[in-house]
Amino acid sequence: MFKIVKRKEMAGGNMVLNEIEAPIIARKARPGQFVILRANETGERIPMTLADLDTEKGTITIIFSVVGRSTVLFSELQEGDYYQDVVGPLGKPTEIGMVGTAICVGGGTGVAVLYPIAKMLKTMGNRVISIIGARCEELIILREEIERVSDELLICTDNGSVGRNAQVTELLQEFLAKETPGVVIAIGPVAMMKRVSDITRPLNIKTIVSLNPIMIDGTGMCGSCRVEVGGAVKFACVDGPEFDGHEVDFDQLMQRLQAFRDEEKQSLDACGGAKVHRCKMEEEIASNDPGKANETPVAQVKAA
Ligand code: FES
Repeated sequence: MFKIVKRKEMAGGNMVLNEIEAPIIARKARPGQFVILRANETGERIPMTLADLDTEKGTITIIFSVVGRSTVLFSELQEGDYYQDVVGPLGKPTEIGMVGTAICVGGGTGVAVLYPIAKMLKTMGNRVISIIGARCEELIILREEIERVSDELLICTDNGSVGRNAQVTELLQEFLAKETPGVVIAIGPVAMMKRVSDITRPLNIKTIVSLNPIMIDGTGMCGSCRVEVGGAVKFACVDGPEFDGHEVDFDQLMQRLQAFRDEEKQSLDACGGAKVHRCKMEEEIASNDPGKANETPVAQVKAA
């Protein structure tokens, strides 16, 4: 059993931070890795990439959007309550060394995954430029934390309520018109990571993305997390979750993330539903493809 020592609602209650007592995992984990949690004995196994860890306190931190039945269940756990299981650390840690300038691009809850990576890059001596975005100011998370580990922080929102009225990819393109960084790390909705990779590919700028496909065992046994990278089948749980964005088949990933959308919706409806915020890029992609107009947002399926 793993005790929640701190619980904080973020983004107007749409996201929840849990700091969890897990000393062995905290000692071993590195930025970029993830854990799989279950709220109770019959609960679904949910993968969450670590948002932070504290080796002295022996705690790990996760941040999740409340978008599916399991995350609704997670959100109901209070300080002092326990997760039934937390397994990890799983996956490969981030493998980025000294690159000079690193651009960290984060959208939605992806900012939580980006934070420990930006912190590590800054600690190593890199110049860190962070670009974070969300639908509106309320949904921007970890702003101060990201600012502390960045040499420059650029913020944008879909409605201009804070920062620029733009998308993260527009700010990225503006930066790339002036300067070529050593690496771009993009973490957030699949549509955003795809677009970032499309921008950096012709410029030949190394681009790392963190994938969160449907997972079950998290140990490379079930095959549910398979993704195609550079024409080869990879398992995100053991070969990732970070991959070269230029090599990822994002369209296939989006398709696979939709595989259980009807079941997810039924399950969510059965527990009273939850607010869903759809990534603007996903909306744009859907509006250009009438067949996708009514699909469940990828971000919802990912975290459900
Ligand atoms: Fe089963 Fe990755 S989650 S192989």
